[in-house]
Amino acid sequence: MHNSVKITDKVHWLGANDRRTNLFENMWPIPNGVSYNSYLIIDEKIALVDTLEYGSSDDYIDKIEKLIDGRSIDYLIINHMEPDHSGSIKMIVEKYPNIKLVGNLKTFKIIESYFGYQDKWYQVEDGDELDLGKHRLKFIMTPWVHWPETMMTYDLEEKMLFSGDAFGSWGALDGGIFDDEIEFERYYEDEMRRYYSNIVGKYSNMVQKAFKKLDGVDIKYICSTHGPIWRSDVNKVIFLYDKWSKLEAEDGVVIIYGSMYGNTAKMADSIARKLSEQGIKKIRIHDASKTHLSYLISDIWRYKGLILGSCAYNSGMLPTMENLTRTLEHMGLKKRFLGLFGSYSWNGGGVKSLFKFQENIGLDLVCDPFDTKGIPDDEAFERCNAIALAMAEKLKV
Ligand code: FEO
Repeated sequence: MHNSVKITDKVHWLGANDRRTNLFENMWPIPNGVSYNSYLIIDEKIALVDTLEYGSSDDYIDKIEKLIDGRSIDYLIINHMEPDHSGSIKMIVEKYPNIKLVGNLKTFKIIESYFGYQDKWYQVEDGDELDLGKHRLKFIMTPWVHWPETMMTYDLEEKMLFSGDAFGSWGALDGGIFDDEIEFERYYEDEMRRYYSNIVGKYSNMVQKAFKKLDGVDIKYICSTHGPIWRSDVNKVIFLYDKWSKLEAEDGVVIIYGSMYGNTAKMADSIARKLSEQGIKKIRIHDASKTHLSYLISDIWRYKGLILGSCAYNSGMLPTMENLTRTLEHMGLKKRFLGLFGSYSWNGGGVKSLFKFQENIGLDLVCDPFDTKGIPDDEAFERCNAIALAMAEKLKV
Protein backbone atom coordinates (compact mmCIF):
# COMPACT_ATOMS: atom_id res chain seq x y z
CA MET A 1 0.00 0.00 0.00
CA HIS A 2 1.19 3.48 -0.93
CA ASN A 3 1.60 5.49 2.26
CA SER A 4 0.03 8.71 3.37
CA VAL A 5 2.40 11.63 3.94
CA LYS A 6 2.82 13.36 7.27
CA ILE A 7 2.46 17.16 7.12
CA THR A 8 2.78 17.60 10.88
CA ASP A 9 2.59 15.05 13.68
CA LYS A 10 -1.19 15.10 13.61
CA VAL A 11 -2.07 16.08 10.06
CA HIS A 12 -1.66 13.77 7.08
CA TRP A 13 -1.97 14.07 3.32
CA LEU A 14 -4.06 11.32 1.78
CA GLY A 15 -4.00 12.36 -1.84
CA ALA A 16 -4.31 10.35 -5.02
CA ASN A 17 -2.62 11.01 -8.35
CA ASP A 18 -4.74 10.66 -11.45
CA ARG A 19 -2.68 10.19 -14.61
CA ARG A 20 -5.39 8.25 -16.38
CA THR A 21 -8.04 10.90 -17.01
CA ASN A 22 -7.57 12.76 -20.27
CA LEU A 23 -9.99 15.60 -19.68
CA PHE A 24 -10.65 17.22 -16.30
CA GLU A 25 -14.39 17.94 -15.97
CA ASN A 26 -14.51 16.06 -19.30
CA MET A 27 -13.38 19.34 -20.83
CA TRP A 28 -9.80 20.42 -19.98
CA PRO A 29 -6.74 18.40 -21.05
CA ILE A 30 -4.51 17.24 -18.20
CA PRO A 31 -1.51 15.64 -19.93
CA ASN A 32 0.46 15.94 -16.68
CA GLY A 33 -2.33 14.49 -14.58
CA VAL A 34 -3.84 15.92 -11.41
CA SER A 35 -3.82 15.12 -7.72
CA TYR A 36 -6.92 15.03 -5.55
CA ASN A 37 -5.90 15.93 -2.02
CA SER A 38 -7.66 14.79 1.12
CA TYR A 39 -6.36 15.46 4.63
CA LEU A 40 -6.73 13.76 7.99
CA ILE A 41 -6.42 15.54 11.36
CA ILE A 42 -5.96 13.22 14.32
CA ASP A 43 -6.82 14.64 17.74
CA GLU A 44 -9.28 13.77 20.51
CA LYS A 45 -11.72 13.95 17.65
CA ILE A 46 -10.71 12.92 14.14
CA ALA A 47 -11.56 15.01 11.10
CA LEU A 48 -11.18 14.21 7.44
CA VAL A 49 -10.96 17.29 5.21
CA ASP A 50 -12.51 16.65 1.77
CA THR A 51 -12.43 13.29 0.03
CA LEU A 52 -11.21 12.04 -3.35
CA GLU A 53 -12.71 11.60 -6.79
CA TYR A 54 -14.45 8.24 -6.65
CA GLY A 55 -12.24 5.48 -8.03
CA SER A 56 -9.02 7.51 -7.93
CA SER A 57 -7.61 5.46 -5.06
CA ASP A 58 -8.48 1.90 -4.15
CA ASP A 59 -6.50 2.08 -0.90
CA TYR A 60 -7.98 5.31 0.47
CA ILE A 61 -9.82 3.55 3.30
CA ASP A 62 -6.80 1.33 4.03
CA LYS A 63 -4.62 4.41 4.45
CA ILE A 64 -7.15 6.01 6.77
CA GLU A 65 -7.50 2.81 8.79
CA LYS A 66 -3.76 2.55 9.26
CA LEU A 67 -3.60 6.10 10.61
CA ILE A 68 -6.59 6.03 12.91
CA ASP A 69 -5.65 2.69 14.41
CA GLY A 70 -9.05 1.28 15.30
CA ARG A 71 -10.77 4.58 16.00
CA SER A 72 -13.50 6.14 13.87
CA ILE A 73 -13.75 9.45 12.02
CA ASP A 74 -15.89 12.04 13.82
CA TYR A 75 -16.17 14.73 11.17
CA LEU A 76 -15.91 15.03 7.43
CA ILE A 77 -15.27 18.66 6.53
CA ILE A 78 -16.75 19.36 3.11
CA ASN A 79 -15.08 22.49 1.77
CA HIS A 80 -16.36 21.86 -1.75
CA MET A 81 -19.04 19.61 -3.20
CA GLU A 82 -17.72 19.21 -6.77
CA PRO A 83 -17.47 15.44 -7.28
CA ASP A 84 -13.68 15.43 -7.70
CA HIS A 85 -13.70 16.00 -3.91
CA SER A 86 -17.07 14.74 -2.78
CA GLY A 87 -17.07 11.57 -4.88
CA SER A 88 -15.98 9.33 -2.01
CA ILE A 89 -18.43 10.69 0.59
CA LYS A 90 -20.71 7.67 0.25
CA MET A 91 -17.81 5.28 0.76
CA ILE A 92 -16.67 7.22 3.85
CA VAL A 93 -20.15 7.37 5.38
CA GLU A 94 -20.70 3.66 4.80
CA LYS A 95 -17.39 2.88 6.52
CA TYR A 96 -17.88 5.40 9.37
CA PRO A 97 -21.66 5.59 9.89
CA ASN A 98 -21.44 7.87 12.95
CA ILE A 99 -19.56 10.56 11.07
CA LYS A 100 -20.90 14.13 10.98
CA LEU A 101 -20.80 15.93 7.63
CA VAL A 102 -19.63 19.50 8.20
CA GLY A 103 -20.73 22.09 5.67
CA ASN A 104 -22.76 25.24 5.22
CA LEU A 105 -26.35 25.70 4.15
CA LYS A 106 -25.39 25.77 0.46
CA THR A 107 -23.30 22.61 0.88
CA PHE A 108 -26.35 20.78 2.16
CA LYS A 109 -28.53 22.04 -0.66
CA ILE A 110 -26.16 20.22 -3.01
CA ILE A 111 -25.50 17.20 -0.83
CA GLU A 112 -29.24 16.66 -0.49
CA SER A 113 -29.49 15.90 -4.20
CA TYR A 114 -26.30 13.83 -4.28
CA PHE A 115 -26.40 11.72 -1.14
CA GLY A 116 -29.03 12.79 1.37
CA TYR A 117 -27.73 11.85 4.84
CA GLN A 118 -29.76 14.64 6.53
CA ASP A 119 -29.25 12.97 9.91
CA LYS A 120 -25.50 13.53 9.63
CA TRP A 121 -25.48 17.22 8.71
CA TYR A 122 -23.49 19.56 10.95
CA GLN A 123 -24.10 23.06 9.69
CA VAL A 124 -21.53 25.83 10.15
CA GLU A 125 -21.54 29.51 9.28
CA ASP A 126 -18.82 32.02 8.54
CA GLY A 127 -16.43 32.30 11.49
CA ASP A 128 -17.78 29.25 13.36
CA GLU A 129 -15.25 27.03 15.08
CA LEU A 130 -15.12 23.31 15.71
CA ASP A 131 -13.06 21.92 18.56
CA LEU A 132 -11.19 18.67 17.93
CA GLY A 133 -9.17 18.78 21.16
CA LYS A 134 -5.88 20.59 20.58
CA HIS A 135 -6.91 21.55 17.08
CA ARG A 136 -9.62 24.14 16.55
CA LEU A 137 -11.01 24.52 13.06
CA LYS A 138 -12.41 27.83 11.89
CA PHE A 139 -14.65 27.99 8.83
CA ILE A 140 -14.32 30.80 6.33
CA MET A 141 -17.06 31.12 3.73
CA THR A 142 -15.55 31.77 0.30
CA PRO A 143 -18.50 31.40 -2.08
CA TRP A 144 -17.79 30.95 -5.81
CA VAL A 145 -14.21 29.84 -5.37
CA HIS A 146 -15.28 27.83 -7.29
CA TRP A 147 -18.93 26.82 -6.61
CA PRO A 148 -21.50 28.69 -4.52
CA GLU A 149 -20.95 26.55 -1.42
CA THR A 150 -17.14 26.68 -1.32
CA MET A 151 -15.55 27.42 2.02
CA MET A 152 -12.10 27.15 3.54
CA THR A 153 -11.11 25.61 6.86
CA TYR A 154 -8.35 27.09 9.00
CA ASP A 155 -6.65 24.99 11.65
CA LEU A 156 -5.68 27.45 14.39
CA GLU A 157 -3.29 25.01 16.05
CA GLU A 158 -1.21 24.29 12.95
CA LYS A 159 -1.88 27.66 11.22
CA MET A 160 -2.90 25.51 8.29
CA LEU A 161 -5.38 26.61 5.64
CA PHE A 162 -7.38 23.92 3.86
CA SER A 163 -8.26 26.06 0.89
CA GLY A 164 -10.34 23.86 -1.41
CA ASP A 165 -9.67 24.56 -5.10
CA ALA A 166 -8.04 27.91 -4.29
CA PHE A 167 -4.25 27.80 -4.64
CA GLY A 168 -4.65 24.53 -6.52
CA SER A 169 -2.87 23.34 -9.61
CA TRP A 170 -3.00 20.66 -12.26
CA GLY A 171 -0.04 18.33 -12.52
CA ALA A 172 0.15 15.09 -10.56
CA LEU A 173 2.50 15.06 -7.59
CA ASP A 174 5.47 13.17 -9.00
CA GLY A 175 7.09 12.25 -5.70
CA GLY A 176 7.36 15.77 -4.30
CA ILE A 177 4.33 16.72 -2.24
CA PHE A 178 5.57 20.01 -0.70
CA ASP A 179 6.58 23.22 -2.44
CA ASP A 180 10.19 22.79 -1.31
CA GLU A 181 10.36 19.32 -2.89
CA ILE A 182 9.35 20.29 -6.43
CA GLU A 183 10.52 22.31 -9.44
CA PHE A 184 7.72 24.81 -9.29
CA GLU A 185 8.79 27.34 -11.92
CA ARG A 186 9.66 24.78 -14.57
CA TYR A 187 6.58 22.64 -14.17
CA TYR A 188 3.75 23.64 -11.86
CA GLU A 189 3.57 27.38 -12.48
CA ASP A 190 2.25 26.93 -16.02
CA GLU A 191 -0.10 24.19 -14.87
CA MET A 192 -1.27 26.33 -11.97
CA ARG A 193 -2.01 29.32 -14.20
CA ARG A 194 -3.82 27.08 -16.69
CA TYR A 195 -5.84 25.56 -13.85
CA TYR A 196 -6.59 28.97 -12.37
CA SER A 197 -7.59 30.60 -15.65
CA ASN A 198 -9.64 27.64 -16.90
CA ILE A 199 -11.44 26.72 -13.68
CA VAL A 200 -11.44 29.61 -11.24
CA GLY A 201 -10.68 32.64 -13.45
CA LYS A 202 -14.32 33.46 -14.16
CA TYR A 203 -14.76 34.02 -10.42
CA SER A 204 -11.71 36.26 -9.98
CA ASN A 205 -13.66 38.96 -8.16
CA MET A 206 -14.79 36.33 -5.63
CA VAL A 207 -11.17 35.22 -5.21
CA GLN A 208 -10.35 38.83 -4.35
CA LYS A 209 -13.17 38.84 -1.79
CA ALA A 210 -11.75 35.64 -0.31
CA PHE A 211 -8.34 37.33 -0.06
CA LYS A 212 -9.90 40.14 1.97
CA LYS A 213 -11.32 37.58 4.39
CA LEU A 214 -7.91 35.95 4.74
CA ASP A 215 -6.22 39.27 5.42
CA GLY A 216 -4.44 39.06 8.77
CA VAL A 217 -4.77 35.26 9.04
CA ASP A 218 -1.39 33.79 10.00
CA ILE A 219 -0.90 31.06 7.41
CA LYS A 220 1.98 28.62 7.76
CA TYR A 221 0.65 25.92 5.43
CA ILE A 222 -1.69 26.02 2.46
CA CYS A 223 -3.30 22.68 1.70
CA SER A 224 -5.31 22.85 -1.49
CA THR A 225 -7.40 20.09 -3.00
CA HIS A 226 -5.10 19.89 -6.06
CA GLY A 227 -1.33 20.11 -6.40
CA PRO A 228 1.47 20.74 -3.94
CA ILE A 229 1.18 21.65 -0.27
CA TRP A 230 2.77 25.02 0.53
CA ARG A 231 4.91 25.21 3.67
CA SER A 232 8.17 26.93 2.72
CA ASP A 233 6.90 29.90 0.77
CA VAL A 234 3.15 30.35 1.11
CA ASN A 235 3.58 33.94 -0.11
CA LYS A 236 4.62 32.72 -3.53
CA VAL A 237 1.31 31.02 -4.25
CA ILE A 238 -0.63 33.84 -2.58
CA PHE A 239 1.17 36.34 -4.83
CA LEU A 240 0.35 34.38 -7.98
CA TYR A 241 -3.32 33.86 -7.16
CA ASP A 242 -3.62 37.52 -6.16
CA LYS A 243 -2.03 38.62 -9.45
CA TRP A 244 -4.15 36.36 -11.62
CA SER A 245 -7.37 37.24 -9.84
CA LYS A 246 -6.61 40.93 -10.37
CA LEU A 247 -6.15 40.12 -14.07
CA GLU A 248 -2.61 41.50 -13.84
CA ALA A 249 -0.45 40.27 -16.68
CA GLU A 250 3.03 40.29 -18.23
CA ASP A 251 4.22 42.63 -20.97
CA GLY A 252 3.73 40.20 -23.78
CA VAL A 253 1.32 39.40 -26.57
CA VAL A 254 -0.63 36.33 -27.52
CA ILE A 255 -1.86 36.17 -31.10
CA ILE A 256 -4.63 33.65 -31.78
CA TYR A 257 -6.06 33.10 -35.20
CA GLY A 258 -8.47 30.95 -37.15
CA SER A 259 -7.30 30.36 -40.70
CA MET A 260 -8.60 27.87 -43.28
CA TYR A 261 -6.09 28.29 -46.08
CA GLY A 262 -3.22 30.19 -44.47
CA ASN A 263 -3.89 33.84 -45.34
CA THR A 264 -4.89 34.90 -41.83
CA ALA A 265 -2.03 32.78 -40.47
CA LYS A 266 0.48 34.74 -42.63
CA MET A 267 -0.85 37.97 -41.20
CA ALA A 268 -0.39 36.62 -37.65
CA ASP A 269 3.27 35.86 -38.38
CA SER A 270 3.74 39.30 -39.87
CA ILE A 271 2.27 41.01 -36.79
CA ALA A 272 4.44 38.90 -34.52
CA ARG A 273 7.60 39.78 -36.48
CA LYS A 274 6.86 43.47 -36.19
CA LEU A 275 6.19 43.12 -32.46
CA SER A 276 9.54 41.42 -32.12
CA GLU A 277 11.25 44.27 -34.00
CA GLN A 278 9.73 46.59 -31.41
CA GLY A 279 11.53 44.71 -28.66
CA ILE A 280 8.62 42.59 -27.41
CA LYS A 281 10.11 39.27 -26.40
CA LYS A 282 7.13 37.47 -24.97
CA ILE A 283 5.08 36.61 -28.05
CA ARG A 284 3.01 33.48 -28.55
CA ILE A 285 1.04 32.55 -31.65
CA HIS A 286 -1.66 29.88 -31.58
CA ASP A 287 -3.86 28.40 -34.27
CA ALA A 288 -7.24 28.16 -32.53
CA SER A 289 -8.16 25.14 -34.63
CA LYS A 290 -5.19 23.20 -33.32
CA THR A 291 -4.37 24.39 -29.82
CA HIS A 292 -6.93 23.47 -27.18
CA LEU A 293 -8.98 26.28 -25.69
CA SER A 294 -7.44 25.50 -22.29
CA TYR A 295 -3.97 26.66 -23.41
CA LEU A 296 -5.35 29.68 -25.26
CA ILE A 297 -7.09 30.91 -22.10
CA SER A 298 -3.96 30.32 -20.04
CA ASP A 299 -1.84 32.48 -22.35
CA ILE A 300 -4.54 35.14 -22.46
CA TRP A 301 -4.34 35.22 -18.66
CA ARG A 302 -0.59 35.53 -18.90
CA TYR A 303 -0.09 38.41 -21.34
CA LYS A 304 -1.45 41.96 -21.52
CA GLY A 305 -1.72 42.01 -25.30
CA LEU A 306 -4.31 39.94 -27.13
CA ILE A 307 -4.51 39.95 -30.92
CA LEU A 308 -7.25 37.91 -32.55
CA GLY A 309 -7.54 37.07 -36.23
CA SER A 310 -10.11 35.18 -38.21
CA CYS A 311 -10.94 34.33 -41.74
CA ALA A 312 -14.60 34.57 -42.73
CA TYR A 313 -16.65 31.41 -42.36
CA ASN A 314 -20.27 31.46 -43.49
CA SER A 315 -20.25 35.24 -42.95
CA GLY A 316 -18.99 34.90 -39.37
CA MET A 317 -15.70 33.99 -37.78
CA LEU A 318 -14.22 30.50 -37.88
CA PRO A 319 -16.15 28.40 -35.32
CA THR A 320 -12.99 27.65 -33.33
CA MET A 321 -12.52 31.42 -32.85
CA GLU A 322 -16.21 31.75 -32.08
CA ASN A 323 -15.81 29.20 -29.32
CA LEU A 324 -12.87 31.13 -27.90
CA THR A 325 -14.54 34.55 -27.99
CA ARG A 326 -17.78 33.19 -26.50
CA THR A 327 -15.77 31.65 -23.66
CA LEU A 328 -13.92 34.92 -23.03
CA GLU A 329 -17.23 36.79 -22.91
CA HIS A 330 -18.57 34.22 -20.49
CA MET A 331 -15.48 34.63 -18.31
CA GLY A 332 -15.75 38.42 -18.43
CA LEU A 333 -12.14 38.94 -19.48
CA LYS A 334 -10.85 42.42 -18.60
CA LYS A 335 -7.67 44.48 -18.63
CA ARG A 336 -6.29 43.36 -21.97
CA PHE A 337 -5.26 45.42 -25.00
CA LEU A 338 -6.93 44.04 -28.08
CA GLY A 339 -6.08 44.00 -31.79
CA LEU A 340 -8.27 42.44 -34.49
CA PHE A 341 -7.52 41.36 -38.05
CA GLY A 342 -8.56 38.82 -40.65
CA SER A 343 -9.19 37.91 -44.25
CA TYR A 344 -11.96 36.72 -46.53
CA SER A 345 -12.49 35.46 -50.05
CA TRP A 346 -15.93 36.73 -51.02
CA ASN A 347 -18.04 38.49 -48.45
CA GLY A 348 -16.20 38.96 -45.15
CA GLY A 349 -17.78 38.59 -41.74
CA GLY A 350 -14.95 37.19 -39.63
CA VAL A 351 -13.57 40.50 -38.45
CA LYS A 352 -17.05 41.99 -38.21
CA SER A 353 -17.92 39.24 -35.71
CA LEU A 354 -14.68 39.82 -33.84
CA PHE A 355 -15.57 43.48 -33.60
CA LYS A 356 -18.96 42.55 -32.15
CA PHE A 357 -17.11 40.50 -29.55
CA GLN A 358 -15.03 43.57 -28.69
CA GLU A 359 -18.15 45.68 -28.28
CA ASN A 360 -19.68 43.08 -25.99
CA ILE A 361 -16.63 42.61 -23.80
CA GLY A 362 -15.39 46.21 -23.85
CA LEU A 363 -11.65 45.58 -24.08
CA ASP A 364 -9.45 48.48 -25.32
CA LEU A 365 -8.80 48.28 -29.05
CA VAL A 366 -5.28 49.37 -29.91
CA CYS A 367 -6.31 50.45 -33.43
CA ASP A 368 -9.08 49.95 -35.95
CA PRO A 369 -9.78 46.34 -36.90
CA PHE A 370 -9.27 45.43 -40.55
CA ASP A 371 -9.63 42.56 -42.97
CA THR A 372 -8.22 41.91 -46.39
CA LYS A 373 -9.65 40.16 -49.42
CA GLY A 374 -7.80 37.12 -50.70
CA ILE A 375 -4.05 36.80 -50.37
CA PRO A 376 -2.66 39.58 -48.17
CA ASP A 377 -0.83 42.22 -50.22
CA ASP A 378 1.61 44.95 -49.21
CA GLU A 379 -1.20 47.16 -48.00
CA ALA A 380 -2.56 44.36 -45.81
CA PHE A 381 0.87 43.80 -44.29
CA GLU A 382 1.14 47.52 -43.63
CA ARG A 383 -2.10 47.27 -41.66
CA CYS A 384 -0.62 44.31 -39.77
CA ASN A 385 2.39 46.48 -38.94
CA ALA A 386 0.05 49.18 -37.67
CA ILE A 387 -1.56 46.73 -35.22
CA ALA A 388 1.85 45.60 -34.01
CA LEU A 389 3.12 49.16 -33.57
CA ALA A 390 -0.02 50.25 -31.72
CA MET A 391 0.17 47.21 -29.44
CA ALA A 392 3.87 47.72 -28.77
CA GLU A 393 3.15 51.34 -27.90
CA LYS A 394 0.53 50.27 -25.34
CA LEU A 395 2.90 47.78 -23.74
CA LYS A 396 5.65 50.37 -23.42
CA VAL A 397 3.39 52.71 -21.43
FE1 FEO B 1 -11.47 20.49 -7.71
FE2 FEO B 1 -14.13 22.68 -8.13
O1 FEO B 1 -13.28 21.02 -7.82
